[in-house]
Formats: sequence, structure tokens, C-alpha cells
Amino acid sequence: MAERPRLGVVVGASGGLGRALLARMEADSRFEAVAALSRRPPRDWDTEGSGSARRLWLSVDLTREDSLAQAAQALGERGEVVRAVVAAGLLHAPDLAPERTYRSLSPDAFARLFAINAAGPALAAKHLLPLTPRERPSLFAALSARVGSLADNRLGGWYAYRASKAALNMIVRTLAIEHARTRPHGVCVALHPGTVDTPLSAPFQKGVAAERLFSPDAAAEALERVMDGLTPSDTGRVFAWDGQPIPW
Ligand SMILES: NC(=O)c1ccc[n+]([C@@H]2O[C@H](COP(=O)([O-])OP(=O)(O)OC[C@H]3O[C@@H](n4cnc5c(N)ncnc54)[C@H](OP(=O)(O)O)[C@@H]3O)[C@@H](O)[C@H]2O)c1
Repeated sequence: MAERPRLGVVVGASGGLGRALLARMEADSRFEAVAALSRRPPRDWDTEGSGSARRLWLSVDLTREDSLAQAAQALGERGEVVRAVVAAGLLHAPDLAPERTYRSLSPDAFARLFAINAAGPALAAKHLLPLTPRERPSLFAALSARVGSLADNRLGGWYAYRASKAALNMIVRTLAIEHARTRPHGVCVALHPGTVDTPLSAPFQKGVAAERLFSPDAAAEALERVMDGLTPSDTGRVFAWDGQPIPW
């Protein structure tokens, strides 16, 4: 059977890390086309695809499953998804701040963070994993965070964000088990990008040593190196930007 065009996909492609990952995918000839799935087009992309036949922007809001279903339909008509990275995420908003104490816990914060950080990537997987090839390698990666590790939690705080990323790690593990039954060459992982200079981390960068604060490009390059080195024996695990596994 003729091979279908290989697609690279970034969900949350308008964010700091999403844009950097997308740029690297675009420069990578392994992908015949790259798709940006986000609420608004990534900077420098217009809705017509900026004149490049390799670019495809599809409007996706992770809280609206119909937008994911429509994007998956369009992707399926273009080719097969050999790499999908979910780079969307939420930590703070004008009316949402990570909690320092259990006295600040709110149902609204839990609902919002779980919707974007846990249910969102799970629903992205629901619609994208069926588009991955059965006989060729593929990779699904969701950007998680080291603070989602139970074993690594020595500082406390950030209850809803930590819990949503721990939930994401469990979701990825569960996806990996199911995915391997039909796609033995497929890999599903969660990745920690390090502390990266983006709007998400901006309010929390004080105290981060300069050499530990990565640019989005440097983080994307490191993550790409990790992704390129993964094999099916790594599926279901959490890895940091330097390739080291992160404990549950
Ligand atoms: N930066 C860090 O230091 C760091 C550290 C550890 C883990 N991470 C993880 O890395 C990922 C990327 O973070 P970032 O630093 O690049 O953050 P960012 O610049 O704030 O980008 C966040 C992205 O998430 C998207 N998003 C939010 N709600 C969405 C929704 N309902 N539907 C679709 N997309 C939505 C945003 O889209 P809009 O543009 O439409 O708002 C944006 O593209 C996140 O999962 C984050 O938790 C980051």
C-alpha cells in the first residue's frame, strides 16, 4: 500500500513552546506537512497558511471536543499523523493563581486546570491517535511538568496544577497501554520541558538561575532530541528535557 503523507502536529501551537516546536517541525523534512492546532493562528501564520503548502492551521479549543473532531477529520484527509505534540497548558490567568496553601483551593481552579491540562490532552489523543500509522513508528507527546511527580514533590503548593499534571501522566500511561495493542511501533509519552521563558512561567521566574531558564527554542531543540531518541520500549513514561526519566 502506498505510504500516505507524514504529518507533524502541534496542539497549542500559539504558545511559547508550541510555536518553537512548530518551527522545528516545519524545518524538518521528515514531515511532508505540519499542522498547528490552536485557538488562534501561531504568530507569523495566517489562516490561509502563509502561502506554504506544508502549513495547515486548524482552529482548536481544547474545551470544545467538536473542534478537535473537525481538525482530526481535516488531518485524516491530508495524511497520517507520525508526530503529535500537545503543548497547550494552563497555570495562571488574571483570575487564577497557583495556590500556596490549601486555604486558597477552589473548585473553579481545579475545573479549569483539569480541563486544559488533563482532559484536553486526553481528548486530543482520542482524536489524533486513530490517525497514526499501524505499521510505521509514530509519537504522541504531551507536555507535562516535573511538579506533577509525586515522588519529586518536596516544596508543596500549586495543588491544582500539580494534580492536573499528575492526572495527565496517568492518562498518558493509560493511552500508551491501549495504543500499543494496535500500534506496536507507536510511542506515547509525557515530557517536562524544563523552566522555559514563556508567558506561563513569566510570573515565577524570580529565583531561577539564568542557566536554568531556557529559551523556547533551546527547550524545543532539547525536546526534539529526546523525542527522536524514544523507542516503543519507552512508551507510557515521563521524560525531562535532558532525556532523564522522571519518577511518578
Ligand atoms: N514554561 C515552562 O516553564 C513550563 C514548565 C513545565 C511545563 N510546561 C508545560 O509546557 C506546556 C506549554 O507551556 P508554555 O510555557 O508554552 O505556555 P504558554 O506560552 O502560556 O502557552 C500555552 C498554550 O496553551 C494554549 N491553551 C490554553 N488554553 C487552551 C484551550 N482551551 N484550547 C487550546 N489551547 C489552549 C494557549 O493558547 P492561546 O494562545 O489561545 O491562549 C497557548 O498556546 C504547558 O503544558 C505547560 O504546563 C511549561
